[in-house]
Amino acid sequence: METIRREDALLLAHFYAPDEVQKLADFVGDSYALAKRAKESEKQIIVFCGVSFMGESVKILCPEKSVYLPVPAARCAMAEMVDESEIAKVRRNVPDLAVVTYINSTARVKALSDVVVTSSNAEKIIAALPHKNIYFIPDRNLGHFIAARDRSGKNFYFGNGYCPVHDRTTKEEVLAKKAEYPNALFVTHPECPQEVCALADYVGSTAGIIDFAENSDCSEFIVGTEEGVLYELFRRCPNKKFYPSRAGFVCEDMKKITKESVDNVFAGYVPPVEVEEQTRAKAAEALNAMLKLAK
Ligand code: 13P
Ligand code: SF4
Repeated sequence: METIRREDALLLAHFYAPDEVQKLADFVGDSYALAKRAKESEKQIIVFCGVSFMGESVKILCPEKSVYLPVPAARCAMAEMVDESEIAKVRRNVPDLAVVTYINSTARVKALSDVVVTSSNAEKIIAALPHKNIYFIPDRNLGHFIAARDRSGKNFYFGNGYCPVHDRTTKEEVLAKKAEYPNALFVTHPECPQEVCALADYVGSTAGIIDFAENSDCSEFIVGTEEGVLYELFRRCPNKKFYPSRAGFVCEDMKKITKESVDNVFAGYVPPVEVEEQTRAKAAEALNAMLKLAK
C-alpha cells in the first residue's frame, strides 16, 4: 500500500460527480475535455472521479500514467449494452463502413471500432469521415440525433443501447415544466429520446449545456440532464434560475463517488486501472483518431 501525495496527482471530476467531489477537483468537465486534459497533463498520476469507462479511456490513451478511479465499481450501464458479435456481422455485410463508438463503452468495444466520439464532437467527427456508412454504437438516441443533423448524405445503422437515466425522460414531463416556467429555455443532453430533444432550445454535452446557459441572455432554464450539472450552473451563473426537468434526475453510479472514496485513493487503498495490452493498443487507435479529428 503506497500513499499518493495530493500535489503529485491531477484530480479530475465529471460534472455528474457529487458537489463535494467537484469542489475538490483540479478540473471539472465533460467526457471529452477530461480525457484530453488527462492526456495533456504533465502529471503522471490521474485520479478520475467518474464512472469506469472514463478512467479506462485515460489509461488507454496514457498507458505510462497511473490512473485511479475512486470507486472502480461505479459503472455506466450503457457502456455494457453492446453485442460484440454484431460489430463483426455489420462489418461483414456493409461496405465502406466506419464503426463509430460513443466513449461510454468498454475498452473491448473501443478496440473493435474505427473511431470513438463524445457528445461534444460526434457531429464534427462523423462529417469528417470519408465512409458512406456509419454504424453508431451503443447509444441509439445520440446516434439518431447526429444522423438527423448530418448533411453529408451518409447512411446510419444504430446500436440499441441507451442511458437508463436520460432515456426515461418524457415529452410530457418536459411540456409540464415548460407550462410551469413559460419564460425558461429548455436545455438537454442528446442521450434523451428524440422527441425530448425536439422540444429543446439547446442539445449538447454537459459542458455545452453549461456554456450555453452562461452565454445566453435568458435567465431561466429547464435542465434535462443529470442534476450534478446544477452545481457548475449555479457557480457560473449565480443570478440565473435552473429547474431540473424532473425530480431525481440522478446517475446513481456517479453518486457512489464520495469525498471518502477520493481520500482512499490518496491513502493507497485503491488499485490502479489496468487494461490488457492488446485491447489497449487497439482501443488507443480509435481514441487517438477521435483526438485528431476533433481538433
Ligand atoms: P458528457 O460527455 O456530455 O459529459 O456526457 C457524459 C455522460 O455520461 C452523459 O450521460
Ligand atoms: Fe452512463 Fe447515463 Fe450515468 Fe452518463 S448518466 S454515466 S450515460 S448511466
